Amino acid sequence: MRVLAILSLAVMVSSLPSFGQKVAATPPMGWNSWNHFAGHVTDADVRSAADSLVSTGMRDAGYVYVNVDDTWQGKRDPQGVMHANERFPDMKALGDYIHSKGLKFGIYSSPGAQTCAHYEGSLGHETQDAKSYAEWGVDFLKYDLCSFQSNMRKVEAEHPDDPNAAKNLMIAVYRKMGDALKATGRPILYSLCQYGVDQPWKWGPELGANMWRTTDDIDDSYGRMIAIGFSQAGLAKYAGPGHWNDPDMLEVGNGKMTEDEYKTHMSLWVLLAAPLLAGNDLTKMSDADKNILMNKEAIAIDQDALGKQGDRLYESGDLDVWTKPLSGGRVAVGLFNRSWSTRDVSVDLSEIGFKGGGSVRDVWKQTDLGRRSGVFTSRIPKHGVTLIVVGK
Ligand code: GLA
Repeated sequence: MRVLAILSLAVMVSSLPSFGQKVAATPPMGWNSWNHFAGHVTDADVRSAADSLVSTGMRDAGYVYVNVDDTWQGKRDPQGVMHANERFPDMKALGDYIHSKGLKFGIYSSPGAQTCAHYEGSLGHETQDAKSYAEWGVDFLKYDLCSFQSNMRKVEAEHPDDPNAAKNLMIAVYRKMGDALKATGRPILYSLCQYGVDQPWKWGPELGANMWRTTDDIDDSYGRMIAIGFSQAGLAKYAGPGHWNDPDMLEVGNGKMTEDEYKTHMSLWVLLAAPLLAGNDLTKMSDADKNILMNKEAIAIDQDALGKQGDRLYESGDLDVWTKPLSGGRVAVGLFNRSWSTRDVSVDLSEIGFKGGGSVRDVWKQTDLGRRSGVFTSRIPKHGVTLIVVGK
């Protein structure tokens, strides 16, 4: 009897994917349905994304969350319990399927009455919804402000003398879901999506958030991607193990940027210690997409144990240099060329801790460039990047 009880406890514990581990000790990695499938996503799409994470090697490269974004929701029953719509026949079964592949299950809701795509949100049902998520085996919740902005505008109008009325209301509703998730006893990664309104990096960690969006939405264009990526300067001090700045999901593989532009995207995101949530159709990945998303050395920069976000070293016109401190005294450096022609971009190694020079490794070329000292210069194509790791 006792053996049985111990055995069943062991089974219970092993079926909780993140039990005993710190949630988001390194930036979360996985896939999210929105950037490619948007409002058309189905249970079958999500299952095939899970299959593809395994067959492409993405899972083994670290991409473990399978996140269903907006439009899975159906209606509440008379008891207020939330049910999925006809495109998602059984959320618990979907969660079980995802877990059976060694992956984790993510879901999406809004603190407002409605989500951004006008599906049912969690307002007034936070505890009930958190309980349903835990029952379905959810490991990740993206909580998207959306229609709650109208509640904020209302309270603002009602309290014209209180400049913090809207902000306080927003923080309270995010705290409510954070507490509800905690109360389930299941480790559920909590991802705030409110587009950086009122600097969530300053109050997110305290209410249990593991990541928070810092900007409005990305799209699959070089202009939008760099506008977001290069606007992240100065936020490094707010990120660390368990709590990360989120400049939004990846667009690599969605087809509207060049290979050099997608390399810029990936390089910038790993230097930012950003969550890496692929947003492409994993069933149709080109070799170039795979090489970008699964470059082990790029991923290792993002996931480095030191847990420090990178920041801008200097910028000159369309040329930009960013560094990220890594464990073992190493430093990752991104040399970016945002211009429309090939340009030389340089970094002085003595300025980044290598006065006597250091060994340089090119991450995209996957080659050792040997020992270098003084100014390191790289010739970079338009919209391209050279990503290096410098060590003693
Ligand atoms: C907002 C979010 C996006 C996505 C959509 C879904 O725009 O920022 O990431 O979740 O809503 O409707």
